[in-house]
Amino acid sequence: MHNQTTPLLSGRGLIKRYGQQHALAGVDIDVHAGEVLAIVGPSGSGKTSLLHVLAGILRAEEGQITLAGQRIDQLNETRRSELRRTEFGFVFQSGMLVTELTAEENVALPLLLGDRDKRESIAAARDWLGRLGLAGKEGRRPGELSGGEAQRVAIARAITHRPKVIFADEPTGALDTKTGHATVHALIDAARATGAAVIIVTHDRELAAAVPRTVSIRDGQIERQASARAVPVA
Ligand SMILES: Nc1ncnc2c1ncn2[C@@H]1O[C@H](COP(=O)(O)OP(=O)(O)OP(=O)(O)O)[C@@H](O)[C@H]1O
Ligand SMILES: [Mg+2]
Repeated sequence: MHNQTTPLLSGRGLIKRYGQQHALAGVDIDVHAGEVLAIVGPSGSGKTSLLHVLAGILRAEEGQITLAGQRIDQLNETRRSELRRTEFGFVFQSGMLVTELTAEENVALPLLLGDRDKRESIAAARDWLGRLGLAGKEGRRPGELSGGEAQRVAIARAITHRPKVIFADEPTGALDTKTGHATVHALIDAARATGAAVIIVTHDRELAAAVPRTVSIRDGQIERQASARAVPVA
């Protein structure tokens, strides 16, 4: 999986502190275009902090982040939020869908926020919902969907604007094992179809083993990296 091209997303010397506590104690990480990687590690090891720092949700005290070779860590909040809306997609542990909106409205939201045509945005949303097996459920609100279905809506929402990187923090945390694995495979397949890179934080070792590359983090530092051929999970 490693190649010589410029990484799509790169972090160097990332340090994130909360008071005296080091959430990230000097992390270097490269993610290439279209790559799928899992970040694993014990609770409190810094996984969410790393994801949030890479995505520009949190600012690191030290270190550099580049996207396609361009520094993004020094952008102001307005530019960072624009970057998050256009270049990145997010899937969180439990959906974070807007409860008042239908599935298709939730999925279309990032496009509408980017001033895209309403009809076009809804059409793109419906297309992705169909590809994720949710045809016929476009008009349901999140409360009318199962946990696995709601996560697939969240995946559709994360990908419809064709981001370069999708960040997923424990996307299966609220699901049973089987539904969780199916959900992650839906995410990986969707990303493959668009060429997006995917960074998945997970506690699930079995799931991590099915992803081409795993980065282990402990006490805010990268412990080891493993690249293996993906093996299918049930
Ligand atoms: N807002 C905060 N204020 C203070 N300390 C924080 C804050 N967020 C995280 N931390 C601390 O930073 C460290 C890393 O937290 P982080 O959330 O990145 O861990 P994690 O690996 O995602 O854990 P989990 O698997 O439980 O989600 C922990 O020691 C945590 O207590
Ligand atoms: Mg976390």
